[in-house]
Amino acid sequence: MTHPAPLTPPSLPLTLLRPDSLLPVPGPAPALPRIIQGGMGVAVSDWRLARAVSMTGELGVVSGTGIDTVLLRRLQDGDPDGHVRAALSHFPDAALAARTVQRFFLPAGRAPGQPYARVPLPTAERHRDAWELSVLGAFTEVFLARQGHANPVGLNLLTKLQLHTLPCLFGAMLAGVDTVIMGAGIPRDIPRVLDALAAGQPATLNLDVRGGDPVPLTLDPAAYGGAGVALTRPKFYPVVASHVLAGVLARKASGGVEGFVVEGPTAGGHNAPPRGPLTLDSSGQPVYGERDGADLQALRALGLPFWLAGSHGTPDALARALAAGAAGIQVGTLFAFAAESGLCADLKAEVQARAHTGTLEVFTDPLASPTGFPFKVVNLPGTLSQAGAYAARQRVCDIGYLREAYRTPQGRVGWRCPSEPVAAYAAKGGQAADTTGRKCLCNALMADAGYPQVQRGGHTEPPLLTSGDRLNDLRDLPTAYHAADVIRVLRG
Ligand SMILES: Cc1cc2nc3c(=O)[nH]c(=O)nc-3n(C[C@H](O)[C@H](O)[C@H](O)COP(=O)(O)O)c2cc1C
Ligand code: SF4
Repeated sequence: MTHPAPLTPPSLPLTLLRPDSLLPVPGPAPALPRIIQGGMGVAVSDWRLARAVSMTGELGVVSGTGIDTVLLRRLQDGDPDGHVRAALSHFPDAALAARTVQRFFLPAGRAPGQPYARVPLPTAERHRDAWELSVLGAFTEVFLARQGHANPVGLNLLTKLQLHTLPCLFGAMLAGVDTVIMGAGIPRDIPRVLDALAAGQPATLNLDVRGGDPVPLTLDPAAYGGAGVALTRPKFYPVVASHVLAGVLARKASGGVEGFVVEGPTAGGHNAPPRGPLTLDSSGQPVYGERDGADLQALRALGLPFWLAGSHGTPDALARALAAGAAGIQVGTLFAFAAESGLCADLKAEVQARAHTGTLEVFTDPLASPTGFPFKVVNLPGTLSQAGAYAARQRVCDIGYLREAYRTPQGRVGWRCPSEPVAAYAAKGGQAADTTGRKCLCNALMADAGYPQVQRGGHTEPPLLTSGDRLNDLRDLPTAYHAADVIRVLRG
């Protein structure tokens, strides 16, 4: 009989944390932060970045998107600093943590050209591997972000990734997450889920199924190390593009909403589509107008704090937001290229160098994301933004976050994604025309964070970078800067 390998080290020695990220802590965090560091997937806002921001007293936010794969790949790369295993040694279900380490950890990392281990793509009925890794991954990320200070840390998730939401929330709550921020969808049921998990009760979330009834997914804390454990209920801030949606969520969500992030169409990552019929400009980007802005007076009337996001990364914008009644701003792009972010170093250096010549272009791509939401793409050689690199990539669906559940003619739940191989998508009843221009964001964003899969034939997945429209503003910062520098600049 084999026994799980012991986890080392038994607790997190803070000496493992890089000294340059140990920034002065100017006292406890205020009741509400003026600056939220936006959640940025995959692993761009990782624990190092969130920790550095939270140490300044503002709100650092880790990304829970794809955190199961990130955990697996960190372990397969040998967890060189030992942080992941150190965090896992604090997980309440020691046997589950040990089993996972034993299964995936490679002490010397992968051999050159060796692919990362693949776990079966989760489905509504079979998702144990993905859920275990998600609980452990979210726990690890929040646990590490909270080390060395007593200030709050937040978690960001994309609402559309319904299959992974419950385990990510639960893992983050086990590690003491303070705030949950969710966009890319209408997170109406999340307050109820947070209430249930906080009470140690099973939580249920519906999985939307195209062409059929939703399928309930349930996570029982007892099955993932949380038997009978009462947890702190985090605050919940949905990300909204309009005051109308904010009003609906404030009135009709399944429980408490404690604030909003109000994000405009110039923000990095996914954007809400323009209201009304989609019109493209001469370069092929969606046209946004007056109607797409949120009415701040209507937002104030809701009586909840809100933060403005999208090109608000300046002291003037912060002052204007406060004057308009906001609690502050949420900023992403400036933090994405800070030293502590999880973006891989060569991409960061390349973008910083180009920003200083003011030559970076950001394209709001209406097609790139299989979700159908516009997605901001940085035009950068060596990435999937280039037609040649896109055409050369062999389509494969092996991570699966952006698949859509659909009802098959036989009445079962099937899974498909317009970025998967075209023939497979069409065989599942998808329209081949819907695959045009779609990019495999799952694989590309893993590559951005330094975890590219090695596919058949030794082909390494290329990256695809996203940022807000104001990417060239990086030239106002030194070529290499820290999260605390961004905070200093924003505070004015
Ligand atoms: C690289 C990058 C990745 C992002 N990923 C996410 C995400 O996973 N979820 C999310 O809600 N917002 C995401 N965002 C949006 C940020 O959280 C934030 O709202 C936005 O960046 C603010 O606008 P700014 O980019 O002009 O500062 C992302 C932004 C960037 C730059
Ligand atoms: S983006 Fe790629 S890996 Fe993700 S679901 Fe679609 S095809 Fe699969």
